[in-house]
Amino acid sequence: LKLDKNFEIEKEYIAKSVYFYHKILLSDLPLAKEARLYLEQRGIELEHIVKWGFGFCPYSNELSRKVEKKLVPSEPLLELGLIKKSKINDGFYDFFHDRIIIPIYGHEGSIIALSGRLFQPHLQSKTKELPKYINSPESAIFAKSNVLYHFYAALQSIVSYGFVLVVEGYMDCISLVNAGVTNTVAVMGTSLTHSHMEALSKVTKRIIICFDSDKAGQNAARRTFFIAFPFKGIDLEYLEIPDGKDPDDFIKKYGVNEFHALIPKTEPLLNRVCKWFFEESNFKPEVFLRQAKEHILPIILQHPDKQVQDESLLFLCDKYFENVYPEDLRQEMEGLSSLHI
Ligand code: GTP
Ligand code: MN
Ligand code: MN
Ligand code: MN
Ligand code: MN
Repeated sequence: LKLDKNFEIEKEYIAKSVYFYHKILLSDLPLAKEARLYLEQRGIELEHIVKWGFGFCPYSNELSRKVEKKLVPSEPLLELGLIKKSKINDGFYDFFHDRIIIPIYGHEGSIIALSGRLFQPHLQSKTKELPKYINSPESAIFAKSNVLYHFYAALQSIVSYGFVLVVEGYMDCISLVNAGVTNTVAVMGTSLTHSHMEALSKVTKRIIICFDSDKAGQNAARRTFFIAFPFKGIDLEYLEIPDGKDPDDFIKKYGVNEFHALIPKTEPLLNRVCKWFFEESNFKPEVFLRQAKEHILPIILQHPDKQVQDESLLFLCDKYFENVYPEDLRQEMEGLSSLHI
């Protein structure tokens, strides 16, 4: 394997496996019908199943049966993490068993990995808590921190709308795109990495983060601020979903027009991050000042544009600190830099 640098052979096995699971989801199997019903209840109709290439792996011997019958070689599927060696006999089992499968396209437009969402209504008792989602293992063709879900297909919309919406989950992205917000991409349960930022900043100057409005989403948004704020020439904004929901839940409940109505309410991510820190400081400016010195000033300092630094310091002073002036914060900030060298 790995006969050429573009991994054409691996990609062919991934694409074929995805198509194999796709046909199972579209089949007459009772479990497949249940899976389609589940998706339909989530707003994913047959046309969407086809458009997004969803699949289903109802049992642990779908693909591995083919391998055991020597209809498919084991090595590439093992290497790709699609099948695993059985612990009880010398056979194999499907890694994505009991899961609805979402193909992941790389930034060049070919399938590079699978993600599987747990779906096992036929299993009564769970002996252990299984993860809601699992992904193909990291490999030379798939590194989660480099890939944005739906990036390739969203490119034209991102350029024509002039901004990109970054959400946390596949389902958020799929819902938004199906509702017409086609300039949406998803991180795969992480924050926005440096590598994601490099890809996005080549196509747009305006990046709107719209993560789940729970603690996990908030923390991911904060990590995103630490990584992404210093990028030159980028407007990094935050769109807050009300009611502790994720974008998918929100659209299901209130409709896409209500979602559109939120877009003018975006604010700079810096401002949102400050609000979170201020809340955690129990709205005490002196506590927040310590937090800001520790967590926010070092990030502002990393921004290559002095004017943006000045605006950010001015914002902090205007909004939060009565007797602190931007010059004080700049001194504080530059003191930090000599400390860290
Ligand atoms: P639904 O329940 O299907 O609506 O999923 P969600 O997208 O709302 O899930 P959640 O907000 O919990 O997580 C957001 C994203 O994080 C998912 O789309 C996945 O990419 C990732 N994720 C969530 N749970 C897991 C997990 O257990 N393991 C891994 N590897 N990733 C996860
Ligand atoms: Mn989760
Ligand atoms: Mn979440
Ligand atoms: Mn979510
Ligand atoms: Mn969700």
